[in-house]
Amino acid sequence: MKALIPAAGLGSRFLPVTRVIPKEMLPIGAKPALELIVEEAKAAGAEEIVIVISPGKELIREYFKDDPSISFELQTEQKGLGHAVFCAAERFRDEKECVLVLLGDALVSGCQASSEMVAMSKANNGAGVIGLERVPEEMVSRYGIVKLDDSDSKAPQITDIVEKPSVEEAPSDMAVAGRYLLDPQIFKLLADQKTGYGGEIQLTDAIRRLLEKKKVLGYVYPGKRHDIGNPKGYFKTLEAMNVNG
Ligand code: G1P
Repeated sequence: MKALIPAAGLGSRFLPVTRVIPKEMLPIGAKPALELIVEEAKAAGAEEIVIVISPGKELIREYFKDDPSISFELQTEQKGLGHAVFCAAERFRDEKECVLVLLGDALVSGCQASSEMVAMSKANNGAGVIGLERVPEEMVSRYGIVKLDDSDSKAPQITDIVEKPSVEEAPSDMAVAGRYLLDPQIFKLLADQKTGYGGEIQLTDAIRRLLEKKKVLGYVYPGKRHDIGNPKGYFKTLEAMNVNG
């Protein structure tokens, strides 16, 4: 399996430190957050990992330079998460299996999120899987929000997905939480994806089109997602991952 880690965002919610240190390289104990994410991808079976960085984040390339399983692609324009993922499309051209996508500013504690998603996919004929977390109603407008089918199965199917909906428009309170296992058709869909929320090319919008072609299941984490992209989220992450004491 191959994995893709978008780590090209500007880190504007964590200035000024992100002028020189990419948010993904902030320490969680002695390791940069991104190393924990790479470990998670490898534990889930990723043999090759492509990290998408932006100019100015060369520190990431420098840090991983001795790991032959990791390579890099550059996103030179800030056009959104979907565009960052598309920047690595060529690297997945011949891929048949689902690609594991791990957002570089999201850590998950309390479970082996990616490994559990891979197991769910295997148990369901290679279906796509998206990691989900229930969020309070007033927070739905900060996330991609999914609609699940009515079955009470442990592997519910995602029937719709919307990027950052208003409370009124949100199809549920189940938020996309930083981990995706996606059919490689996603790259073809991203190639002609129109801009969406915030004038950016959204991964969520391409996934919405993927749902018409491929089964994608929802995996509600038993653990918790942490956003290290801002100071408050970062300090909460340190607390939750118990690296303070
Ligand atoms: C991105 C995705 C969103 C998802 C979130 C957390 O948003 O676009 O769908 O819910 O990550 O995984 P961002 O946090 O980059 O605004």
